[in-house]
Amino acid sequence: MRNIVMLCTVLLFSFSSFSQQINIIPKPASLQVKPGNFIISKKTVIAVNDEEDTKAADFLNDYLQDVYGFKLNVDKQASKNYIRLSTKNTVTDSAIDSYSLNVIKEGVTIEGATHIGTFYGIQSLIQLLPVIKNTQLVIKAVAIQDAPRFAYRGMHLDVGRHFFPVSFVKKYIDYLALHKMNYFHWHLTEDQGWRIEIKKYPRLTEVGAYRKGTIIGHYPGTGNDSIPYGGFYTQDEIKEVVQYAADRYITIIPEIEMPGHAEAALTSYPWLGCPGTGPYKVEETWGVFDNVFCAGNDSTFMFLQDVLDEVMTLFPSKYIHIGGDECPKTNWKKCPLCQARIKAEGLKDEHELQSYFIQRIEKYLNSKGRQIIGWDEILEGGLAPKATVMSWRGEEGGIAAAQQHHKVIMTPGTYVYFDHSQSTKEDSVTIGGYLPLQTVYNYEPIPKELNAEEAKYIMGAQANVWTEYMAYPSKVEYMIFPRMSALSEVLWTAPEKKSWSDFQKRLPAQFKRYDLWKVHYSNAYYDINYSILPSANYKGILIKMETNDSTGKLLYAESGKHYPKNYTTPILVKNTEGLTGMYYKGTKLMDSITINVAFNKATGKKITLAEPPAKYYPGNGAFTLVDGIQNTAGVTHAKEFIGYKGTDLAAIIDLGSAQSISQVIVHAISKGSSQVYPPKSVEVLASTDGTNFKSLATSDAFVQDAGPTGNFTINFDKSNTRYVKVVVHPLAAIPEGKKSAGEQPWMFIDEIEVN
Ligand code: ACM
Ligand code: ZN
Repeated sequence: MRNIVMLCTVLLFSFSSFSQQINIIPKPASLQVKPGNFIISKKTVIAVNDEEDTKAADFLNDYLQDVYGFKLNVDKQASKNYIRLSTKNTVTDSAIDSYSLNVIKEGVTIEGATHIGTFYGIQSLIQLLPVIKNTQLVIKAVAIQDAPRFAYRGMHLDVGRHFFPVSFVKKYIDYLALHKMNYFHWHLTEDQGWRIEIKKYPRLTEVGAYRKGTIIGHYPGTGNDSIPYGGFYTQDEIKEVVQYAADRYITIIPEIEMPGHAEAALTSYPWLGCPGTGPYKVEETWGVFDNVFCAGNDSTFMFLQDVLDEVMTLFPSKYIHIGGDECPKTNWKKCPLCQARIKAEGLKDEHELQSYFIQRIEKYLNSKGRQIIGWDEILEGGLAPKATVMSWRGEEGGIAAAQQHHKVIMTPGTYVYFDHSQSTKEDSVTIGGYLPLQTVYNYEPIPKELNAEEAKYIMGAQANVWTEYMAYPSKVEYMIFPRMSALSEVLWTAPEKKSWSDFQKRLPAQFKRYDLWKVHYSNAYYDINYSILPSANYKGILIKMETNDSTGKLLYAESGKHYPKNYTTPILVKNTEGLTGMYYKGTKLMDSITINVAFNKATGKKITLAEPPAKYYPGNGAFTLVDGIQNTAGVTHAKEFIGYKGTDLAAIIDLGSAQSISQVIVHAISKGSSQVYPPKSVEVLASTDGTNFKSLATSDAFVQDAGPTGNFTINFDKSNTRYVKVVVHPLAAIPEGKKSAGEQPWMFIDEIEVN
């Protein structure tokens, strides 16, 4: 009997411990849930006997005050009802910044291998707190051992395109701290604004910090708002922010862009540009500009050294970022000073001149005990000897640099550019691209191309936050949350401990934390994603709906019908109609979408392509063209078009049986600013056997819609036919006078109608 009671008790304990969900992000290396709880009350004492650990204690107190409205006393010791912090300071390499966190009924003990480790222990403790207000602060008993995977865990913020006040920069730094990140890359100078006070060159902020207006909407925009815009940080403010970050064990890496993205500096001091170029202005639109620092004039280097001298007094960081990306060589090619420099230094071309530029700056910074970081373009024309490379144009730059035994920070666009959309629905204006949460989560910073030795040069990764389309702090928050939480786990947690499904379980608590922090965040995680599939017998189409989250209820309703039904399997649609999907968690509608299907004789039919589309624009294959969904959004809806460059699109549609047809409409996308041009012409052919085709009509009359799309409407005499062949010929070259004139344009086709 007694044994049975014991057994039951053990089972009960195990049940309660294992059913307790702990929601720490990033996931700790080891975590055991124990029986019992500790309750934080106003009488709980934070016991600190190492002065440095008061930083961690202060962070906890600030958090408690902000979220729950009270602070705890800090004392040297406490024997019960305590949160005890201690730091061993006996660091061995493998234990850098590790910590242990133990919660028992009497209190909490955090022991860091370093003070930084202790600080991270506090971050985990914060995530053991309830995610709702006005409740008892019950903390589950746990035993945690934890340490970071990568030494560099970063977030970047562009304050050039839009300026953010010190108060928000501090919040941003707190967000990093809460995610156990340790580098803040502060992008301080741009074509659209110079944001750091330099005492020796006051015009940089008097003139360079302000522009006369900003484009409206998405580049190239629908005009200019003509509203003066700008701002900058005084040196006192910078010092305050650097200290604020240091108190959270975050290093700020300042970026002073050179030789490109420098037009605000040139506007302030025109002698910094190549003679004969200009006039300059603080730019009011986005992009890459030809006006860059002159590489032939020694005064440019004197100026930059003076600027960097002041930067170094403000920022203790070992690393200084010097930019190096997107520097057009247009002015250098024409500049007598730059050409003289090429000759005098025995350089091959302007790429080597850029390399000369970067190496000269590196030598200067090295002489002051600092190291440079540059974007991956600094590989072109020869890498500066000690440079660290930030790989942004994919992973290739990082791979090449690591193979040359240079340190690397990975920031590839496909995985960590947080200026891309998180939702396929275009819920706000973004730079383009689609980067959902799961793609960030699944990112692996060590490219598989590297061997074990080379992999050691990958210091970590960072998300970049370019702010062309983020004019306010709330938008920045919306773009970083929840993706930053996913990234933190990429950087902190060992790969074998990482799991998307486990992360999904912890995510709802994280959303509640965002509410506690009063931050804006994207709910796109709860979006309904749909795809269109062929039906088994090519009669109609199937609409498949999916959600990341499976704890709620997915419903759908056909247009004109009142009662939604449970969605279980893909829905067969045979006529033009709208279908609405709804995702509920409890009674809360998390997302709804309406899919408008436009039926014609080709919809859902069997279709084959002579040539597959280009690698980066596969859409949903050939079926994209007959799936009944017409793309009105343009290039951002990547699933709803297929792309070709320099080759014909030739499609054969099998109508299933001979039918009378007299019209074909080919829908295409037109967006010159993205090098996407309408086709040159379209030919329609018909066949009864699928082999011998005869031409019905040809058209070169593209009609542009109001938006980024348009069509060729081709009418012909009635024809009784089963197979319709459509051949779409691309434009040979981008027209003169347009961006990238002479190059092969992209051709994006989204739908073919047969009527
Ligand atoms: C960059 O995104 N131009 C580094
Ligand atoms: Zn020049």
